[in-house]
Amino acid sequence: MNLYISGSNRKHNSYNFLKRIKENEDVLISLDDLNIKWCLGCNACQQNESNACIVNDDMQKIYNLIEKSDNIIIMSPIYMNFITGILKNVIDRFNPYCASEKLKGKKIMLITVGQMEEEDQQEVVDKINDYFKSLTEFMYFDFEYLYNFTSGDIIDVDDINKTYSDEQLQKIINNIKNKINM
Ligand SMILES: Cc1cc2nc3c(=O)[nH]c(=O)nc-3n(C[C@H](O)[C@H](O)[C@H](O)COP(=O)(O)O)c2cc1C
Repeated sequence: MNLYISGSNRKHNSYNFLKRIKENEDVLISLDDLNIKWCLGCNACQQNESNACIVNDDMQKIYNLIEKSDNIIIMSPIYMNFITGILKNVIDRFNPYCASEKLKGKKIMLITVGQMEEEDQQEVVDKINDYFKSLTEFMYFDFEYLYNFTSGDIIDVDDINKTYSDEQLQKIINNIKNKINM
C-alpha cells in the first residue's frame, strides 16, 4: 500500500493530480482535512520507549498510515519558494523518526507544482531536493524527486488540457507511475 499526501491548503492541483495517479488500494489524504499541531519540541518522542509522539491530534493518523505504507508520495505546491507551511509542519512532526529507524526501507517521493516558468523554478527545485536529501541522513528513508510541474493552476481535472495536451500529460503520468511502482 502506498500513502499519498496532498500538501496543499486546498483540494485543487495537488489533490486532483494525486487522485489521478493513485491505485485503488492506496490511501490519499489531504492535509487541509487534518488538524495538525506544531511540534512542541518536548522531545518526549526521543525519550519514551516506543519513540512515539505524545501530541494527540491528526498526526497520529499519519504516523499509523506511514507505518503501514511501502512508499509515501507527497505532492506540494511551491509556496514562497519552498514547500507549503502545512507540509513543513508535518515534516517537523517527523521528529520521532529521528530517534527510531521506523522509516528505514521506505521511500518518500515528491512531486511539486508552482506557477512560475520552468527556467525560474530550477533554483527552488534544487533547494527542496537538497532539503529532503539532507533529512535522509538521519531519518533513514530513501528520497526521490519525481516531478515538478511548472504551470500553476492546470492540473485540476477540468483544466488539465490548458497547458498539457492529453498525450503529453499521459506520458508524464506514465513516467511518474513507473517510478512509483519500480
Ligand atoms: C501563498 C502562496 C505562495 C506561492 N508561492 C509560489 C512560489 O513561490 N512559486 C511558484 O511558482 N508558485 C507559487 N504559488 C503558486 C502555487 O504554487 C500554485 O498555484 C500551485 O499550483 C497551487 O497548488 P494547489 O492547487 O495544489 O494548491 C504560491 C501560491 C500561494 C497561495
